[in-house]
Amino acid sequence: MTISIKNNDDIKKMRVAGKLASEVLDFITPFVKPGISTEELDQLCHNFMVNEQNTIPAPLNYAPPGHAPYPKSICTSVNNQICHGIPGDRILKKGDIINIDITVIKDSYHGDTSRMFYVGEPSIQAKRLCEITYQSMWKGIQQVKPGATLGDIGASIQEFAEDNGFSVVREFCGHGIGTVFHEDPQILHYGKKGEGLKLKEGMTFTIEPMINAGKKEIRMLPDGWTVVTKDRSLSAQWEHTILVTHEGYEVLTKSSGTPAPFLD
Ligand code: MF3
Ligand code: CO
Ligand code: CO
Repeated sequence: MTISIKNNDDIKKMRVAGKLASEVLDFITPFVKPGISTEELDQLCHNFMVNEQNTIPAPLNYAPPGHAPYPKSICTSVNNQICHGIPGDRILKKGDIINIDITVIKDSYHGDTSRMFYVGEPSIQAKRLCEITYQSMWKGIQQVKPGATLGDIGASIQEFAEDNGFSVVREFCGHGIGTVFHEDPQILHYGKKGEGLKLKEGMTFTIEPMINAGKKEIRMLPDGWTVVTKDRSLSAQWEHTILVTHEGYEVLTKSSGTPAPFLD
């Protein structure tokens, strides 16, 4: 396992990429309304990235081993879809919840972030799931500092999600990120305090817990990308790209529309 440590020049570029990724979410927010299709959301984001930001949408044609190239520029995961939902002709309706996951490349560096959106008024359960998932991401982020371990991050996310009656998806995780989209280390959203790799200043990685209202088990749709809950329960996810600093952490995927941190 080789974990890249970013220098000051890398970090400057990661800040730019992170802000741009977050600004795509700010841009798309007013469009997430009943009646729009996920394909339209993809087209709007694609055009914004390519024509306004001069960024590259990293998902488009992304083809990790064993996968067909991803056909779109963003991921849109609705209701029981956990992650990697492919935009298409599905029309959003009142009461849906949707994760929009954006990864841009700017000056060779990646910024990766996602948020949950309510389409109209959410059910009480859906709102609670989205809020608890957001808070669980922040439980993980708050563990980040030199000398802390990956197990500290995973354990704090898992404990919070499970104490609230939800489950943590195991098959997908956060990841190191830089000039490579998915690099070492893997950031599990479950685990044991004190176990695993020790964090070092200059590491950059994502924290992106996927939390299910029901059981943790997943199913892959025949499209080979879209991951759904096996029991058809709702699922939520939030994602930030994080830098390990001398004092603790810096969130790199920030913009004017970023929701306020959840701090203890
Ligand atoms: N953005 C996702 C992540 O957080 C990865 C999407 S890969 C794609 O790691 F090919 F599905 F777009
Ligand atoms: Co990611
Ligand atoms: Co992402």
